[in-house]
Formats: sequence, C-alpha cells, structure tokens
Amino acid sequence: MAFEHLPLRDDGSPAIGFGGDYYPEQWDRAVWKEDVALMTEAGVNLVSVGIFSWALLEPAEGVYEFGWLDDALDLLHEGGIRVDLANASASPPPWFSHKYPQSLPVRIDGVRLGYGSRQAFCSSSADYRRASAALTTKIVERYAAHPAVVMWHVHNEYGCHNDPCYCDASQASFQSWLRAKYGTIEAVNEAWGTAFWSQHYYSFDEITPPRATGTFINPTQRLDYSRFSSDDLLECFEAEAAIIRAHSPLPVTTNFMGLTMGLDRPIDYWKWADRMDVVSNDHYLIADDARNFQELAMTSDYIRGLADGAPWLLMEHSSSAVNWQPRNIAKKPGEMIRNSLQHVARGADAALFFQWRAARAGSEKFHSALLPHAGRDSTLFRDVVKLGAYLGKLGEVVGSRVVGADIVIINDTDARWASELDAHPSIDVTTVPETRLWHDALYRGGYTTDFRRATDDLSGYRVAIVPVQYLMTDAGAANLRGFVESGGTLVATYFSGIVNENDHIRLGGYPGALSEVLGIRIEEFFPLLQSETIALSEFGAGSKWSERGTVSSARVLAEYASGPVQGSAAVTRNAFGKGSAYYVGTSLTTGGVSALFAQVAAEASITPFVSVPQDVEVVLRSNAGTSWAFVINHTSEDVALSLDGVDLLAGSPTGGSLTVDAGGVAVVRLSTPIGDS
Ligand code: GLA
Repeated sequence: MAFEHLPLRDDGSPAIGFGGDYYPEQWDRAVWKEDVALMTEAGVNLVSVGIFSWALLEPAEGVYEFGWLDDALDLLHEGGIRVDLANASASPPPWFSHKYPQSLPVRIDGVRLGYGSRQAFCSSSADYRRASAALTTKIVERYAAHPAVVMWHVHNEYGCHNDPCYCDASQASFQSWLRAKYGTIEAVNEAWGTAFWSQHYYSFDEITPPRATGTFINPTQRLDYSRFSSDDLLECFEAEAAIIRAHSPLPVTTNFMGLTMGLDRPIDYWKWADRMDVVSNDHYLIADDARNFQELAMTSDYIRGLADGAPWLLMEHSSSAVNWQPRNIAKKPGEMIRNSLQHVARGADAALFFQWRAARAGSEKFHSALLPHAGRDSTLFRDVVKLGAYLGKLGEVVGSRVVGADIVIINDTDARWASELDAHPSIDVTTVPETRLWHDALYRGGYTTDFRRATDDLSGYRVAIVPVQYLMTDAGAANLRGFVESGGTLVATYFSGIVNENDHIRLGGYPGALSEVLGIRIEEFFPLLQSETIALSEFGAGSKWSERGTVSSARVLAEYASGPVQGSAAVTRNAFGKGSAYYVGTSLTTGGVSALFAQVAAEASITPFVSVPQDVEVVLRSNAGTSWAFVINHTSEDVALSLDGVDLLAGSPTGGSLTVDAGGVAVVRLSTPIGDS
C-alpha cells in the first residue's frame, strides 16, 4: 500500500483525520463561509466532498458544470481544510436512469427498481460503467492537482442498496464469470451438485441468476452468485480506481460497511481490501443494543484485520442519532467521544462522520451531524469541539499499529455467506452472532482480538477462535491444523468445517475438515428450539445447538446433562502436535465462554495487558519504540489504573496511576513501550 499518512497539516506533521461528509451543494454559498469558519473552530481537517454530486456535476450526458465544486474546494483550501474527493459515481442522476432504463437494478422477484433514492444502477450495465468512467475521468483530470485534495473516495458503500441485481445483463455477466471460473459446464454441474432435483445444465446459456423460484434455490448457485456479485462491483471499483491512479498518486479508497455484508448483500471485503490504498469503513451503532460499544469494537477489529493490521480510516460514524433505525436514539453524554476514541484505539487514523452539517431537506434531515440544526450554540457542537481538541492531541499515534493481540478470530467470507444459506439444520446458527458472542466474552475479559482468514499466516497468535466457520477449504483446514501442530491453541465451535468450498458435506462424520485435529466425530445434529437451553455438566448451559458424537482422542470437558444427547461430549480438548484443540458443540452463554476461555488462556499463558473492570476498554498502539494505551471507560464508575506515562488528553504525566472518570477516556504515552507488532 502506498499509504503512510494523509498530509493534513501544513507543517507536514501527522494528524488524526477529523471531519466528515460535506455537501456544499445542499446549501447557499453564504453558508459555505460559515461552514469553513466552524470547521476551523472544531478542528476539522478533512471533509469528503462530491459523493452524491453526479446530477449537479453532469446535468446532461457529456455536459459538465464544475464551477460550484471549484469554488467549494477553493474555499476549503483557503481555510486549510483538506478534501477526500469523491468521483461521484455512487448515484446516477435521474436523466441517466430515464435515458438508460435498462441500467436500473432488478430485484430477485423480477421487479425493476425505480430511481428517486440513490445507487439505482446495475453493476453489469455497460451504460453505467461507461458513464461513471467518463465522469471519473473528468473529475480526476480537473482536480488531481488541486491543493486541497489529499485522497480519492470512489463511489460510496458499494452494494448497500442495489446488490445483487438479477437482470438479463447480470445474467450474461454471471455466465461469463462461471465460464472463467469453471471452464466447462460439467465442472459447474459437479460444483453445484445438479444431479439433485433435475438441475443438470447442458450449456452456460441455460444458467440464470438465482431468481425467485418455487422453493429452495440451489445453494451453490446462490453462493456463486454472491461471489459473482461482489466481483462484478469490484470490477466497477477497479475501473474507476484505475482511471484515478493514471492521473494521480494520491491514495484511493472506498468506504466499507463493517460486518453488515451478508449472503444477500454480498461484498467480499477480504478480497476488496487488497485493492485499496487504504482501507476505510463506516460504522453506525445499533441504538437498541445494550452492548453496541462492543459491537463497535468487534467491527473495528475486523476492519483492522482487512487492513492486515495497518492503520485504516473511519470514513463515517454518527455524532448522535441516525435516521434509519426504527427508533433513532440520541447518543448519551460522552458517548460520541468514547465511540470515536474506540475506533482510533483499534487502529483508525481518522474519525470522520456522516456528516458535517445536518441537512434541512431529504431523507436524512433527522440524521445527526457535527453541526446540528440548532447550530453552533448547542451541547452537541460543544462536544464536537471537545472531540476535535482531543484528536488534535493525538497526531503522534498516526501510523502506529495495534499490538497485544494474542488471539485471532477466524472469519472467512465464504464461511459466513454459506452459513446464511437456507435449508440448514437451524435458522439460528450463522457466523456473525457466534463470532460476536466470543468477541464479547474476550472483550469483557480485557483481551484484544484480531481477525484473519483461515488461510492467513497465524504464526503470531497463540489462540485461534473458529466460530461457526461452516464452510472450510482444504487449505484453510490444513493451515489451522498446522497452527495447532506447531503449538497453537485452536477453539472451534459447532457447525464449523462441515462443507467444502462448493457447500458439499465432508463425509464420514462431522466436522469433516477438523475431526482429526479436534479428536472428535459427530454423528448427528440436534438443534434446539428457539427458546430452549440444554444443561451441561460444566460451563452452564447451551442454546441453539447440540449433537451426538464420540471422542476419538479428545478429552471431554463437559457433557450434555439432559435431553436426547445426554452423556454426549459438549466441550472437548484434544492434544495435537505441540498444541491443543478445543471443541464447543453448542452455543454457550457469555459466562460459559468466559469460564472456558479462562482455561484456554491459562494453558496458552495469555493475560490482558492490565487488569480492569469489565467494560473498561484498554487497547495498545505502538510504533518505533513508542506505545500508547487508550482507555475508554464505558462504565458508570470511575476507574483507577496503574499506567505510567503522559496522559495526552490531559497533557500531564500520570505519575504511575491514572483515574479515568465514569464514561471518560484517556490516552497515555507509556513510559515503558510495549514493542511493535
Ligand atoms: C451511510 C452512507 C451515508 C449516509 C449514512 C447515514 O453510511 O454512506 O451516505 O446515508 O449511511 O447513516
């Protein structure tokens, strides 16, 4: 990656990016001057401009009007505000959709979507691709040398509203994709298991997208369609990014959407991340989730994984309420600052928001912003100024990496998507909830956790968690086996290693891919009813799942204590090579995971960096012999920690101990560095 840090300060010193989406086109020019003045007051140094500006930049095909954007960028530059400039391809204008109606996306049930919201295009549309390339060329030619522009923002949240598309153009692209992947139609038949239900294909031309049909669609066809849809949009990104890169050396990104992209909204971020000059992400708290700050932490850890541990940029979060949840709850005092600092603690070198100024019209007028409808004289804006001042003191952490993660959570896109296919033993069993359960238990225990794929280099970790990795490739299984053989501790849950990359069962006893390393052989699944729990002889009770099986070489740590599988192994440990492999055959409670993990941690000799009460988040970043501890207190009690160094936010030495107020934050440059990753 060509990315080190963005030149956000005139003197060249690094700074955390602070600002957000800015839509000057929604406001009179008189407001623009006030915007720049208030941005300066708040310490804003970076804004994203032009994301949804296509209709105003190109009023008719091939006719461009850049005057207003020239003026807005010049004004920002005069104010010292840097710009993340969009290529504006996210939302084609009404004239475009009207002129090229076949470019509009088609839903699974055959309904062609209309325009009048956003992102109304099919990724396979040749007209969309031609038009977005032409617009991108014009924008980059015009602004590549503009002194305010420091990076490029391609499109916006790919796949958010229009993916996958089921139109005829998509069908043709899918057929080409399949030809390239499989070569022959017989290979497709084999991979898709089409001997079942008379689904055999005699020609690629017969293949359709997995459109709405009478009952369950071929699962491998669905999986391949998700893979194809992700690749098709990635082609759009790559085409536009290539145009930009031909004209400009500045970093190119597109903003991801955390862990929200499942089988039916498929973007394979692990694959996409490799194509970014810097990974960026948008994250929004789910208000109706008591532990949403932990979900934030998990998402940040995942994004850092996508970035292979390198710093990433938080492209959007919210200062307070959003507009798209059933009840849009405002953030409580201090919550915005805690959230922003959490992202920075977990590797972000920018804390940007949607958006700078709260809109007065359109669907997002009730979405919070850095500058609320009430204006400058508001509690929210005063908090924004405070956050800007805090971030302004953290320039020295830019470029550092999160350290101290001895634990890795395995997360493969295919495994997640395949877990979300239908006609499974239980609708309750998918990857993300089980991943969250384990991350939450580790979070409560004060551990920092990384995310990687099953095939990645795991040699830097002591413990690998495998939560509902239902689909596992031979390469992934071999890598996990090697991890254990060479001394690692593996913890795999139920419904992992069940199928290969084509969603075909691995025969001979579950979990076929991992049976040997786990030393177990499962014969039959016994999923539980929605509200049912099953008592265990240790670690409390399980939910969602149970199973009948036997241990081959593993030792039983807990049995099912009741029900049809009473006496069967529920939690096991197998010594294998120089390491060990734990298996958990049900979904434990958070307390159960914590109790089991206490054994795992003791065996693997891992402890949190400092001992703190639950939900006091401590994360370390380190760079070239300097380390920083981020402390975020999500509790309602003040907390005292033994940390020696300089409290950067307070601007004073800790003298060996630090008190972080209830709901407060601190960032300490440690007197004793931790060591780089
Ligand atoms: C997404 C989009 C933004 C905006 C916000 C609202 O992140 O990228 O344009 O719609 O959601 O939360």
